[in-house]
Amino acid sequence: VSLKEFNTFGIDAKAKKFITITNISELLVALQLTEFSEYFVLGGGSNMLLTQDIELPVLHINNKGKRVVYTTNNEVVVEIQAGENWHEFVLWCIENDFGGVENLSLIPGNVGTSPIQNIGAYGVELKDTFVRCTAIDIETQEQKVFMLDDCNFGYRNSIFKNEAKGKYIITSVVFKLTHKNHKLNTSYGAIQEELAHNNITNPTIKNVSDAVIAIRERKLPNPKEIGNSGSFFKNPVISKADFDTLEASHSTIPHYVISDTEIKVPAGWLIEQCGFKGKRYGDAGVHKNQALVLVNYDNATGAEILALAKKIQETVLEKFNIAIEAEVNVI
Ligand code: EPU
Repeated sequence: VSLKEFNTFGIDAKAKKFITITNISELLVALQLTEFSEYFVLGGGSNMLLTQDIELPVLHINNKGKRVVYTTNNEVVVEIQAGENWHEFVLWCIENDFGGVENLSLIPGNVGTSPIQNIGAYGVELKDTFVRCTAIDIETQEQKVFMLDDCNFGYRNSIFKNEAKGKYIITSVVFKLTHKNHKLNTSYGAIQEELAHNNITNPTIKNVSDAVIAIRERKLPNPKEIGNSGSFFKNPVISKADFDTLEASHSTIPHYVISDTEIKVPAGWLIEQCGFKGKRYGDAGVHKNQALVLVNYDNATGAEILALAKKIQETVLEKFNIAIEAEVNVI
């Protein structure tokens, strides 16, 4: 089976065995019958770069369902099955006036994979509304619940990228959202500008979602048109001392203060300074509006994208002495 349609980078890698899972009993049967101890778990395929064919059986997690668990005066708890598309979930929340995920509009991928990298954008992260997720232990086939504190969420990080990596299949996620008194986060400059531009002074969650959608559509390529996995690299955190040296020679460097001793620098800015923004090498390239995003114009192989990523990492290291790490899973 070609995986081209199943990864947003649009890489034409092949899977030997491809099993679609639409509910938990199918998942348990698949785990019992295939007699493998490892699987390739595929959700929305939006955060991976395939550089080779997949020998392990691919489990395409496609269970659907969204339900309200309970509602109080100003809170609502919802349980969403892993195979639901993330952005469709966000739109469902906006339609029902459930607040908390509007800043996470238009992020590609599925609900079940959202905790793995603690998806985040415009000042909000998944962990801010996450209550728990349910997973199946691949080895024992038992169900396990991970509460917020079990997940060790960090910047684009969680237990599922560390100790629990490859051991569990997340089947559903529970979120706690606001019902009436929404707490909007419009701290991000681009959101404020977008709202002001549309003369919105008293925004609703729909206004914030629309603003995020507009910003993302301007900056980020639509994977249906140009293959990509969003940010390819993480934004590096450097010491205050290194930052001061950098700022002395590059006074316009954007940054976010993490603590008294640490500063986060946008990798997109570093990559743009190295001259890569908008560059194309065959079918592999660096997006013209956001240098953090690598793109597949048509038929690039995973190896070609990876070679470009390595070249970017080496150049940034040489010019700025900063090592930038991939955010997407390179397979
Ligand atoms: N910048 C440049 N050149 C570029 C790109 C960015 O100079 O080519 C500068 C911008 O001008 C701005 C700063 O870098 O001053 C930050 O840019 P932006 O607001 O676009 O955010 P980012 O740090 O590049 C992060 C996330 C995105 C998320 C946005 C908004 C990571 C790795 N990426 O990008 O997440 O949408 O913030 O919150 O943290 C994703 O993970 O796939 C993703 C798109």
